[in-house]
Formats: sequence, structure tokens, C-alpha cells
Amino acid sequence: MKVAPSIIAAQFIRFQKEIAEVETAGADLLHLDVMDGVFVRNITFGPMIVEAISKISTVELDAHLMIIKPENYLRQFIDAGLNWLSFHCEATEKTDECIAYIQERKMRAGLAINPPTRFDEVKKYVEKLDYLLIMTVNPGFYGQKFITEVLQKIEEAKDWITKQKLRCLIEVDGGINSTNASLVCQAGADIVVAGAGIFKADNYKKAIEELRCSKA
Ligand code: DX5
Ligand code: ZN
Repeated sequence: MKVAPSIIAAQFIRFQKEIAEVETAGADLLHLDVMDGVFVRNITFGPMIVEAISKISTVELDAHLMIIKPENYLRQFIDAGLNWLSFHCEATEKTDECIAYIQERKMRAGLAINPPTRFDEVKKYVEKLDYLLIMTVNPGFYGQKFITEVLQKIEEAKDWITKQKLRCLIEVDGGINSTNASLVCQAGADIVVAGAGIFKADNYKKAIEELRCSKA
């Protein structure tokens, strides 16, 4: 599994060092949680900060937009220098258009789904996607408890992707730590995101290795 540390759990006062440290510790991607205070009850940062991060980062950037009507902001975020870009199906009526636009701009397009959203509701998009981002917490804050019931949805998605021979990867996000990573891996995750599980650990390298190598 690839490991994507979520910088929302880093110490912002030493942002540049935190980013360099997780990269040295083996991060495959940097996960950037963008929140607008409307789709979720928290506000983080926008394209200007993403652009600043893209200038110092040595790994690919994976932005997770938790904003209403993402179609209005895709261009700005892509111009900021991303590689992977996901938005929520619950936040737009223009899912097809958003996927097409992200891919036209040569980025990997991801669709994020909240815990209550069923896989059936997004199945029709999966053949077009580069990745499906399955949330294992209700988005808004880092450090929440992993919702175990979502494991079934990961399995269902993996099963469908395998049977249909699709290229769509599965990214899993929310409450992942060294204890539950093996369950996520076994259920079919290709990429795991971790905020507190990495940035609140004493040793980033050890934390990343434990997540990556977790076997059920
Ligand atoms: C939740 C975010 C996640 C999350 C990761 O709204 O999308 O990326 O904060 O942090 P942990 O791993 O602490 O849940
Ligand atoms: Zn996220």
C-alpha cells in the first residue's frame, strides 16, 4: 500500500520541516485536506497554500476537496500544482464534468464518498476514475475514530473493480493507525491516508512503515 500523510495533523508553525520529515520518512504522496466551512464544519486552506507546498514538496500532491460545488475551483487547484485531485460526490451535481476536467488537465481524478454514501450510488463513475476515496470518518477533523462498518464498502468496491477489470485505485481516509491498517489493507485499499497516525507519532518513519507493511 502507498501511504499518504495528511498534513492537516502537522504542526503548522513548522510546516516546511514537517513536510521534509515525512518525505524523508517514506511518504509516497502528501494528502492535502481542503475544507470550506460549508461542506464540512471546518476551514483549512486554499490554492495559495497548495501552491506554496508544491514548491517545496518532492513527492506527488494529493488534494482532497471537501468543498461545495468543486467545479468552481478545480482550475485554481490544478494550477497550484497537484497530481491527484479528489472531490466529493455529495458536494456537486456535476460529477461527470469534474472527472472529465481533471483528466483533461492530466491529473488523476478521484471521487470521495462519505461513510453514509453507498457504493451503489457511485458505481457508474468508477470506470472513469483513477481512484475512489472511501472515507472512514465523517470528514471535517483529523484524529477521529475509524468507522469499522465502512470496511464492507471497501471490500464491495474492490470486488467490483477486480471483476470489471478496472484501473481505479482505492484510497482510504480517516482514523487509520497501525492497529486498523491491516484491516483496510485486507479489504482492498491501495493507498492509505493518515493524519494523527503519523504526525502524532514519535517516529514518522516507523509509523509509515507500520502502515505500509500491515498484513492481515
Ligand atoms: C478528514 C480528512 C482526513 C483526516 C486524516 O476530514 O479528510 O484526511 O483528517 O486524519 P486522521 O488520519 O487523523 O483521521
Ligand atoms: Zn482527506
